[in-house]
Amino acid sequence: MAVERTLSIIKPDATRRNLTGKINQRFEDKGLRIIAQKRLALSRAQAEQFYAVHRERGFFNDLVKFMTSGPVVVQVLEGDNAVAANREIMGATNPANAAPGTIRKDFAESIEANSVHGSDSADNARAEIAFFFSGIELCP
Ligand code: CMP
Repeated sequence: MAVERTLSIIKPDATRRNLTGKINQRFEDKGLRIIAQKRLALSRAQAEQFYAVHRERGFFNDLVKFMTSGPVVVQVLEGDNAVAANREIMGATNPANAAPGTIRKDFAESIEANSVHGSDSADNARAEIAFFFSGIELCP
């Protein structure tokens, strides 16, 4: 199995409810290592840029508003097949469809306030990690 890195965001609904530690425990229990992490208040421009791929979607403005409604924790997770492993740990985007024991099933409030984001491919993971972290912030 290949050791990979993926970008994770603990979203404002989860930081508001003080769930950062509980969510991080899920990653560590499943063998992912948190190799970089910081708490940020995203600006509107930063949220728009990060989610630019969704710009034409009907939910874009609400998504940007939500992602700027409180602090987020951005983090890099490392481990075997980290992109896919994290998507399994998170569960489906819509918590109504998420499997039991996943973060979104247990913590998400709605499809928008769904507690966590995770990269959906290795290529996007590289781009998303570079969006938030400089080389000096990442362990080699
Ligand atoms: P995320 O994995 O961060 O990627 C885009 C986000 O848009 C998604 O999680 C959801 O939180 C949010 N979103 C809001 N409404 C929808 C929707 N109808 N379909 C998909 N994503 C949505």
